[in-house]
Amino acid sequence: MSQHPEPDGVGPDTPNLDFEGTTPYDDYVKADVLTHLQHPLSDDPGEMVFLVTTQVMELWFTVIVHEWQTAATALRQDDLPTALAALRRSTYELESLNASWKPLAHLTPAQFNSYRGALGEGSGFQSAMYRRLEFLLGEKSGSMLVPHRGAPRAHAELEKALQEPSLYDEVLGYLARRGHAVPAAALNRDPAQRYEADPDVERVWQRIYAGPQDTPEMRLGEALTEVAELVWRWRNDHLVATRRAMGAKQGTGGSAGVAWLEKRARKNVFPELWTARSHV
Ligand code: HEM
Repeated sequence: MSQHPEPDGVGPDTPNLDFEGTTPYDDYVKADVLTHLQHPLSDDPGEMVFLVTTQVMELWFTVIVHEWQTAATALRQDDLPTALAALRRSTYELESLNASWKPLAHLTPAQFNSYRGALGEGSGFQSAMYRRLEFLLGEKSGSMLVPHRGAPRAHAELEKALQEPSLYDEVLGYLARRGHAVPAAALNRDPAQRYEADPDVERVWQRIYAGPQDTPEMRLGEALTEVAELVWRWRNDHLVATRRAMGAKQGTGGSAGVAWLEKRARKNVFPELWTARSHV
């Protein structure tokens, strides 16, 4: 600390103040762009936090997609430590994502109504990054590309993600190469189709979980279970926030609203990791 700080805190030991152009911070973080992407559609003061929370969640989706792609690539190369590190980072990120529900979790219908009309037909259902996240989990659906026909970049990225093996496909390939009896049907499936639970895959997890408790396979199973649980929590927190904000009204995206979200939240991510537990 400077012994004689200047009144305004500027002294010889303060950070640099002089830059030729924009600051190196902004060159890296693009904070100027990021903090000017908020354009509320109504005059309601509560809309800003709705918009920013949605943007924050989009950023977390982006990071999590990156982590799961890292994990999938590492598993393809039988590099379990890299895969586990990425999955573990993603669980901390999922917890931060889920914590971001807080500002929207207690909206009353009147508060939400103050800007709901301004959203028009806009809905999180149209989030391309969320769809990529679901595709990586194995929840593939060609029809989820339809809303993005008019947006070439999002459409191309989704098309690629649809055709590529999911994270779970790579997990099954890894287990097969480690000598587990993963059925050929699961290994050779069309990756663009939704993954359907397979009793033989359930038996693979059952044997892993019934065996020695600290095998690499077991650590992988537990890391994936953690991911699955946190995704389930995001879906349920979304469901409850929606129920509080709008009851049983139709969604802005045209669905039945809460009734439709309830069905979606019932899906189990990595299904056999859950059902195998009944047989251990
Ligand atoms: C309290 C505020 C919110 C309400 C009332 C709400 C309501 C809804 C409803 C009713 C749907 C069903 C589709 C439709 O008809 O629109 C939906 C879907 C969705 N929402 Fe929200 N939502 C809220 C906040 C958010 C936020 C902050 C995000 C973050 C990006 C988000 C992401 C999504 C996603 C990804 C879907 C599609 C889910 C799926 O395909 O299973 N929602 N939302």
